Amino acid sequence: MNICVIGTGYVGLVTGTCFAEMGNKVWCVDVDTEKIARLKSGILPIYEPGLKELVMKNVAEKRLDFSTQLEEGLKDAVVCFIAVGTPPGEDGSADISYVVDAASNIGATMNKYLIVVNKSTVPVGTADKVKNIIKQQLTVRAQADLEFDVVSNPEFLKEGAAVADFMRPDRVVIGTDNVRTAELMKQLYEPFSRNQQPILIMDIKSAEITKYAANAMLATRISFMNEIAQLCDKVGGDIANVRLGIGSDSRIGMQFLYAGSGYGGSCFPKDVKELVSTGCKNGIAMDVVSAVEAVNERQKYYLVDMVKKRFGEALNGRRFAIWGLAFKPQTDDMREAPSITIIKSLIDMGATIQAYDPEAIEQAKTVLGDYATSITYSKDMLEAVHNADALLVVTEWRQFRQPDFAEIKSKMNQPVIFDGRNQYRTEQMARLGFEYYCIGRSCYVQ
Ligand code: UDX
Repeated sequence: MNICVIGTGYVGLVTGTCFAEMGNKVWCVDVDTEKIARLKSGILPIYEPGLKELVMKNVAEKRLDFSTQLEEGLKDAVVCFIAVGTPPGEDGSADISYVVDAASNIGATMNKYLIVVNKSTVPVGTADKVKNIIKQQLTVRAQADLEFDVVSNPEFLKEGAAVADFMRPDRVVIGTDNVRTAELMKQLYEPFSRNQQPILIMDIKSAEITKYAANAMLATRISFMNEIAQLCDKVGGDIANVRLGIGSDSRIGMQFLYAGSGYGGSCFPKDVKELVSTGCKNGIAMDVVSAVEAVNERQKYYLVDMVKKRFGEALNGRRFAIWGLAFKPQTDDMREAPSITIIKSLIDMGATIQAYDPEAIEQAKTVLGDYATSITYSKDMLEAVHNADALLVVTEWRQFRQPDFAEIKSKMNQPVIFDGRNQYRTEQMARLGFEYYCIGRSCYVQ
């Protein structure tokens, strides 16, 4: 099938590349000339395991190409995916202006029947807007008879596992009101459903809501566990045991029950806020989802509170090592990363920071630009702990799991670890002579 994908960010680039890998001919289109020029010379705008190899392979085998020209992308396309960003606006609602622009450009460019698929995360009702915008553009061009369909096909890929998630999805959700379009979309996704993972055909609005409901449900589990973890710290108990205890109930399951320093990233924070905003606009209070957001904001300060309790509120002259800056491992993405809140808070109290992350240092330099004079970025994890008064583990990169504790201890001013991702065993830390604080395992008494 000939496919056009508008937008070469996380979703667009992964979608285009994976469809090309299954034998389709794909054009990825973006208005950013610089980005397209770099992609053409094999430089990807993001770090994502396995993606670069797949891009190079499919470009070499002539199934994947990049362009700034929508005409080129749409020339033979049967399906056009909209995969542009929907950043949060000031009031928490998603800004769909890039989707609107894409729809308008499609309407101004298409010359034959086209299935327009919305893959961007957009509030319920956006498919109708996209339909109207395309119709308007076609009318302006006196092409109102040209047929097209608009489909909602939300994406559930996780950063750091995006290619694997796309290639082997738990399910594919397709929202459409047209039987023929449903068949074609099913055909397109069948190669990704070799183990009979369901391809769920539903009405458009259900598909749009599904995306937000899925992310809000996952975020709810995390905030719930973070709250229970704080209770464990207060009254005694171990969140790891509680997780096993509740997760063994097949109705609950083990996944997404890890307490930590709060969730970040490009999806959960933004989608939770948007869901609250959509609820408000429609007179639904969305109390549960609002609380999820509030608990998460609070959780980002939990490690900072521990530091304050241990070292006092004035941190002048204190030096803290930070391991992990990205919002989660296997990505260089700093969006809404808890590390930002933690680092800024410590610096505001007078501390200096020695930070290390395997991938996110360049991104961190941009995001934390205002705090640059108080941050040194280390070349490796051991350099970061040199002369540090404490180590804060903020992102659970695998290389942090079994470090050389003896060497760490010898390099630090004081052997103190604040572990925001519960990476180590408390008995082991005690044996090694570390003062060890973690989340919800009663090492920290509030
Ligand atoms: C998420 C959804 O998982 C994905 O389906 C959707 O398409 C986009 O949003 P992503 O943001 O890439 O994906 O990351 P994810 O692995 O889901 O983690 C999100 C955040 O939750 C991270 O900050 C992570 O550290 C945190 N998290 C996750 C926890 O704190 N505890 C957990 O148990 C799981």
